[in-house]
This record gives sequence, structure tokens and C-alpha cells, in this order.
Amino acid sequence: MCGTSGIAFAERVLTAGEIEGKDVLEVGSLDFNGSIRPHVESLKPARYVGVDMMPGQRVDIVMDAAALVERFGPASFDVVLTTEMMEHVRDWPTVISNLKRVLRPGGLLLVTTRSIGFQYHGYPYDFWRYEPEDMRVIFTDLDIEVLERDPDSPGVFLLARQREHLAEVTPVVALYSIILGRRVAEVSDFQIRNFRVRHWLAPRMKTTRRMATKARKRLRSDVVVPLWAALPTGARVGIKRVLRRS
Ligand SMILES: C[S@@+](CC[C@H](N)C(=O)[O-])C[C@H]1O[C@@H](n2cnc3c(N)ncnc32)[C@H](O)[C@@H]1O
Repeated sequence: MCGTSGIAFAERVLTAGEIEGKDVLEVGSLDFNGSIRPHVESLKPARYVGVDMMPGQRVDIVMDAAALVERFGPASFDVVLTTEMMEHVRDWPTVISNLKRVLRPGGLLLVTTRSIGFQYHGYPYDFWRYEPEDMRVIFTDLDIEVLERDPDSPGVFLLARQREHLAEVTPVVALYSIILGRRVAEVSDFQIRNFRVRHWLAPRMKTTRRMATKARKRLRSDVVVPLWAALPTGARVGIKRVLRRS
């Protein structure tokens, strides 16, 4: 979800001069709980296209961000925006490459995403955490104008400008995987399935353990204690003796 600090960042760095009369693409545009689109549209772009792999509010085209160049062609937008999506993209190098290649020379790219310390959140999957130093490597082929941490929660905000000629560099970065808890180049199907099972099981195991403890306590107070009290003294002494010996 685009939080208030992400929206404030976009409002600060995306000025009328950068947007008015320009072609704007927002990637992962579904409005869960806040969007930068109203601000950007108030600055009168010539065109605003919102794409997301899920249909819904503020989504114009349902598609995978890995196919942006195929769909729109290279150098087709002046401004490309993506907020809170990159942590959810398993094949991040392909999507980043698409974000760069649909940008026109001199165009602006705005990215907000999550860093290490931000909790797991689905939408529908959650894979990566990005630190400022990762962003520097990933966007080394663009001119980074602003790179800062989210002041409210672990996250990073980037504004970068496309050079006259994109000499794309394939980033060699092992990102922090939220499902493995360490930096890796990629995650396998097995690791994703394994995490999902553990993630699904964990709260249910907790509930089961809590219910078992409650049942044990109830058994003791409702059955064992009254039964013990009802036994004749001689029987209680005998049982204690047997238990002590065992
Ligand atoms: C946490 S939501 C963020 C939505 C919105 N941008 C915001 O800031 O609140 C992540 C969005 O990215 C979309 N998404 C994830 N992977 C995608 C992909 N490969 N292609 C297109 N959209 C994707 C999801 O469908 C989801 O709507």
C-alpha cells in the first residue's frame, strides 16, 4: 500500500514541469489504500496509463510488468511510476529492465519499495527487500536524482532520470529474500512452496497449542481435582506411594 510518506515523496518530487503534457505510465497501479495517481493527474499529463496484473480501481490495463516493452514499445513514456510493487515481483531484473526500457531519454522513473525490517505482506506474494545500496547498483545506468529512506517505516524512495542513450547494465545483486531471511540471487519454486506451507501452518499451530493447553487445564480442574478430592484418604495415600516409587 502506498503510505502517506510515499505519497508525500511523490508530491514533493513530481512537479508540474515534469508531468504537464507528458505520457505517464504507472506500473502496479491497483489502489489498495492510497495512490499517487490523483496528484499526478492534477498536474495534467497528456496521458496516464495504469497497469497491474490484477483488475481493480485505477487499473486501465491488466498485464504483467515483465511485458511492458512488448506491449508499449521501447522509449514510450516520459514518466514511469511504480509504488510498493517491486518487493512483490519474483523476477525483479526483468521487470526493472522493462521499467528502464519504456522510459524516453530524459524521462523520470519513480520507485518506492520496502527494505529489510518491513514485515511479510502478500499482495499476492512478497519476495524482496531493497536497501539504498541495492538501488544504487540496480539503477547505475540511470542518473539517480533522489535516493532516500522512507521516514516512517523500512523502505526506500528513488527518483532517477533516463540518460540520452540507455546503456543498460544487468544488475548483479543478491537481494534480501523475505521468505529465506538472507540475500540470494533468486528463489526456487520449492523454497516458495515451503515458505507458504510454513506461513500457513504457523498461526494454526499456535492456535492448536493454545487450545491444547486450555483443554489440559480444564481436564485438571473439572475432572482430576474433584476426582482426587472424592477418593478416600487411604486410596490417595496408596496412589501417592505408587507414584513416588515409579
Ligand atoms: C502492494 S500493491 C501496491 C499497489 C499500489 N501501487 C500502491 O502503492 O498501493 C502491489 C501491486 O503490484 C501488483 N503487481 C505485482 N507484481 C506485478 C507484476 N509482475 N506485474 C504487474 N503488477 C504487479 C499487484 O497486483 C499489486 O496490485
